[in-house]
Amino acid sequence: MKNTIGNCSFFTFLFLLNHCDSISASENPLIFTVASEAKDGYLRYLRSADEYGLNVTTLGFGVPWRGGDMNYRGGGYKVNLLKEALEPYKDDENQIIMFTDSYDVIFLASWADILEKFKEAKAKVIFAAENFCWPDDELRSKYPPVDGDGQRFLNSGMFIGYAKNVYNILSYTDIKDTEDDQLFYTHVYLNEKMRNENNIKLDHKSAIFQNLNGNIGDISVTINKEGETKLLNKKYATNPAVVHGNGPSKINLNNFGNYLAGAYVDGECVTCLENNIPEKERTSFTVLIALFVENPTPFLEEFFDKIFSLNYPKNNLHIFVHNNVEYHEKLTETFLEHASNQKYISVKGLNFRDGISEATARELAVNRCLTKKCDYLFVVDSDMHLDNLDTLIELITFNRTVIAPIITRIGTVWSNFWGALNEKGFYARSSDYMSIVNNEIRGIWNVPFISSSYLIKSKILNKLSYTKADVDADMAFAEHLRNQEIFMYACNLNDYGHMINPDTFDIKKTRPEFYELFSNKFDWEKRFIREEYYAQLLAETVPKQPCPDVYWFPIATEIFADSMVDIMEAYGKWSDGSNNDVRLQGGYEAVPTRDIHMNQVGLEPLWLKFLQLYVRPLQEKVFIGYYHDPPRSLMNFVVRYRPDEQPFLRPHHDSSTYTINIALNSVGVDYEGGGCRFLRYNCSILDTQKGWMLMHPGRLTHFHEGLRVTKGTRYIMVSFVDP
Ligand SMILES: *[C@@H]1O[C@H](CO)[C@@H](O)[C@H](O)[C@H]1NC(C)=O
Ligand SMILES: *[C@@H]1O[C@H](CO)[C@@H](O)[C@H](O)[C@H]1NC(C)=O
Ligand SMILES: *[C@@H]1O[C@H](CO)[C@@H](O)[C@H](O)[C@H]1NC(C)=O
Repeated sequence: MKNTIGNCSFFTFLFLLNHCDSISASENPLIFTVASEAKDGYLRYLRSADEYGLNVTTLGFGVPWRGGDMNYRGGGYKVNLLKEALEPYKDDENQIIMFTDSYDVIFLASWADILEKFKEAKAKVIFAAENFCWPDDELRSKYPPVDGDGQRFLNSGMFIGYAKNVYNILSYTDIKDTEDDQLFYTHVYLNEKMRNENNIKLDHKSAIFQNLNGNIGDISVTINKEGETKLLNKKYATNPAVVHGNGPSKINLNNFGNYLAGAYVDGECVTCLENNIPEKERTSFTVLIALFVENPTPFLEEFFDKIFSLNYPKNNLHIFVHNNVEYHEKLTETFLEHASNQKYISVKGLNFRDGISEATARELAVNRCLTKKCDYLFVVDSDMHLDNLDTLIELITFNRTVIAPIITRIGTVWSNFWGALNEKGFYARSSDYMSIVNNEIRGIWNVPFISSSYLIKSKILNKLSYTKADVDADMAFAEHLRNQEIFMYACNLNDYGHMINPDTFDIKKTRPEFYELFSNKFDWEKRFIREEYYAQLLAETVPKQPCPDVYWFPIATEIFADSMVDIMEAYGKWSDGSNNDVRLQGGYEAVPTRDIHMNQVGLEPLWLKFLQLYVRPLQEKVFIGYYHDPPRSLMNFVVRYRPDEQPFLRPHHDSSTYTINIALNSVGVDYEGGGCRFLRYNCSILDTQKGWMLMHPGRLTHFHEGLRVTKGTRYIMVSFVDP
């Protein structure tokens, strides 16, 4: 957002001095709107009225809307309701009336500001103006010419005038409830006699009323020097007092509404803290947690663990899982079984064998929530890792009808919400999108699209649908909510988690997560790098040194080691242990082992990255003054020792500056014997630890041998770094 210096309060002040006596109690306005129900937009409208001390009378509230489909012609009902309400004031020449729509309108100024602008215009009645001659384009030629470049055509969503004149206008002809109100007022305006008698003007330059449709490029939200957010019409240099998201511009209004009318002040989201659920009630609701595994997803185990660990009383939770992926069947079944042994109210699983589509599965979850009379439905797709275990409680606290925790793919701007839509209803980047995903601004944002994880109040569950021809379930979901003007909020008041990137996940591979270092580094590290590793990097940690200049570090987890062994055994093409090795450049190996190279299982790039990210910092710490980034290594392989194959390796030097050697299984458990002996120091390491890495110089001083394995199979991972 651009900061511009507000210029209106100073002039307002002057105006008040000049016209003080003209502002009498009788000039308190009567402000009318029409709303049949307390939609989100209506509550926003009332909040904005409240913000500026405006008293609004709502007509037609709580009774069915009779004005037809407002996406097309309709709204005569509004004319008739207003006429009835103005009956007592029909002869009043002093009483000022203001009418506005409500669901898509926000007040932006106090009555003093509005009145000043009204008086300045020297009209008896002022209608909002717009750039479209709607609903009857044929009438465009009947409009009087406009000085300069103002908006030419009447919009009936907002007007202001003296009671007597407004009533006179409303009495022009009879109008049926389902006929079009804008057409009605247009005919009044185009009737020269009516126009002149009632001194009707259009607000061509949006001094008071701003219609957004067709004007978006000229409108921005600015902050004045009082720290207040204001709407600025750059084209006419006006700060409109009422804004209307007419037609398709409702999405723009929703975006502006995140900031306007005191919603966001001095970088603080004021509305975020309004109507929050008190702490003691937050965990009192029953929630159906609906989990969707619609596509192969890496790190699903961790995903389920986080769901288990959510801070919320399990006896207030239902669990529902739809797993649509055969590959994930075992894991999902394990989760369901585990869940059934917990205190959850109910646990229900559907899987790919049930043959239901994603949309149907999502609708079944909604129905189950309704049947179980839950208070909330909490949807979490399998790529949404809720690292913040308070996510559910926080979302409940904010008391929104539909709210999503904003979750991004780490290091990207890919998230589970859109700030804007293009004409085709697909993603478009809003001006604040980057600031939000980067957490430069924090709040609860009214947005046109959310997906993947959200909390929904049960009162609107019967309005949800995930079905629309040729449209993805999540697109259909958001579109149905937009069509019903149910606000979708996306929240980044706090950090809630991260999104998995499933793009490169290849379930045809053995242990496919092991290949995910590049796509999902955060999760890869959590799963495969030992927690104790990080302390090794601290200056004060003195690493183990079992033999001179042989360092010993915990680095890889059990799962790392097991994955590596599984990957190699699944591949199975162990070298034959002879000196001839076609995998090598010279075709000759002087000290051959039974091994498989990383490049044979597609792990060479990952391995080099591993060396760079996790091994190199340790090397720099223990062998001071040697820097080589990224480390180079041509020989990266897993060796298998066993009594009936190759049980040991004779003394040798490595063609490396330094060598690493990670134990992939456990002595005394998986094998007996084994270990490594450095001849110069007559020093052996026999008690190697699974997941621990030895690091030693490759040549001259560190002549070494692999000791005999007497039973079982021993696996080690070896790299000759910087040959
Ligand atoms: C709104 O109503 C209050 C209380 O009746 C009154 O004091 C105030 O002046 C009214 N505001 C406007 C703008 O009419
Ligand atoms: C929560 O929001 C609803 C409107 O959806 C409101 O009626 C209720 O008062 C709010 N609760 C609190 C504690 O403010
Ligand atoms: C090497 O160490 C072993 C066991 O520590 C010991 O028995 C042996 O005598 C040593 N050899 C030499 C040459 O020092």
